[in-house]
Amino acid sequence: MKNFHVASWQHLQDEILPRDAVIAIDGPAGSGKSTTAKALARRFNLLYIDTGAMYRALTLAALKAQVECSQEGPLVELAANSILELKPGAAESTVFWEGKDVSAAIRTPEIDAMVSLVASHPGVRKIMVQQQQSLGRRGGVVMEGRDIGSVVFPLATAKIFLHASLEARVDRRFKQNQQRGIQASRSELTDDVALRDKKDSERATSPLAIGPDSIVIDSSAMTLEEQNQACALACLVNPALDLELDTDLETGLRELPSNYRFAYSIMNAVSRFFGLKEVGCEGKAVPRGCILAINHVSLWDPPLVGSTFRRFRVNTLAKAELFKVWPMGSIFRWVDSIPIKRKGFDASAFEVASESLRDGNNLVIFPEGTRRAIGHPGPVRNGLGILVQATKAPMVPIFIRGSYGRHPLGSILSPLEVSYGPVIRWHGLEALLESSDPKNVSRRIAQLCLAAYEELQARSFDRYPQTEFEINTGKKQLKKFEARQKKVFGR
Ligand code: DC
Repeated sequence: MKNFHVASWQHLQDEILPRDAVIAIDGPAGSGKSTTAKALARRFNLLYIDTGAMYRALTLAALKAQVECSQEGPLVELAANSILELKPGAAESTVFWEGKDVSAAIRTPEIDAMVSLVASHPGVRKIMVQQQQSLGRRGGVVMEGRDIGSVVFPLATAKIFLHASLEARVDRRFKQNQQRGIQASRSELTDDVALRDKKDSERATSPLAIGPDSIVIDSSAMTLEEQNQACALACLVNPALDLELDTDLETGLRELPSNYRFAYSIMNAVSRFFGLKEVGCEGKAVPRGCILAINHVSLWDPPLVGSTFRRFRVNTLAKAELFKVWPMGSIFRWVDSIPIKRKGFDASAFEVASESLRDGNNLVIFPEGTRRAIGHPGPVRNGLGILVQATKAPMVPIFIRGSYGRHPLGSILSPLEVSYGPVIRWHGLEALLESSDPKNVSRRIAQLCLAAYEELQARSFDRYPQTEFEINTGKKQLKKFEARQKKVFGR
């Protein structure tokens, strides 16, 4: 597996990491996540959060209360009716169950043996993930676990997949146990760690796997200092690449052809008329050759989101039917749209889109493939992953809320917002492809895009709670769109 190339990033300064950064560290048992996460928290002045401790605390409570660890219902009830608190700190993360500090009691071979089973239940994960998200949403954290980059913080500033060979991890656990006075032979430990790897990576809900956008660090042959330094530099890669974008902004503006200036001025007028709010996109620079992945709820989405681009030209993948209607077809062609057939796989549209991305153009796509119910983004289709694998083009997830049922000049139905996520770069793609087939990789990319929409939506609901109109319409639309699925995609 190609390892992160430390020397290329050695020049980066710690100061470029934003103060509200979220660092996600995922990896198998014994890969050194905790030690490194704590070192990163100290180095960058962030809070350290150990999410495994939460699953461990629940396992301890279940064993004490004689709750069967294979039974999801009673475990969910136990978690929902107890007070589990995780107190992040600069150096340690302390976990309390019903007010009692259990940080030491959760690190025993008995808990090691049962915790993966407890963590495999979707209902348990849902409760834990919500708590982890509320701990970290304001940023300034290093969070370690198995699903942090993929599920808990899909928009994290930096995602690291820390890996090490089974032998190296068993060796580390053996030495750790010796220090703690715990008796276990190397062969017992090997079986135990291998079994946990298997359970964590084969479970159906958010399994442990390399994220397509994670920086992969294999620490098998590294000293602890080397591992910490490699991870610290990995935290700085995306912020450094973001900084480089700014210089491109003015060039983009100068290069904008007159048809785009005209189209954008109309789109701006439309979005002002409807009272559009922009979140995280004012003057935001995006890389050239970037996929702008927008969720879809209304026919107003293209002009409303389009009004936020301003400085750069785009190609838009749009359904072929639209090109047949005059004057729509002419307008779409005029702003460089690419027609795509939605039934089956339209290889020629994908080829044109990939070529355009490789030439450095930005590409707008609606990866859900059709309009979806408001408040319920997704599913995202595999086309996005196919495009990413063909081009490695970075992606910006963009979320629009409130374009459905829009009333001019603001509305009590729902707020109208376009929010941008960060630039997602596919650092882990090659490594992931070594252990997974392309179809599965496309699925992972689709899941990540959907998780990004859900996170952008959750942040929007924090700013302005979901309205009655949104809740009720969303419910009705869900049924309608399920029924329409076959008609649109042919299966
Ligand atoms: O990192 P750890 O060994 O303390 O984690 C204990 C278990 O909890 C591990 O086997 C997998 C599970 N876990 C998880 O499923 N998701 C997380 N975010 C963290 C831990």
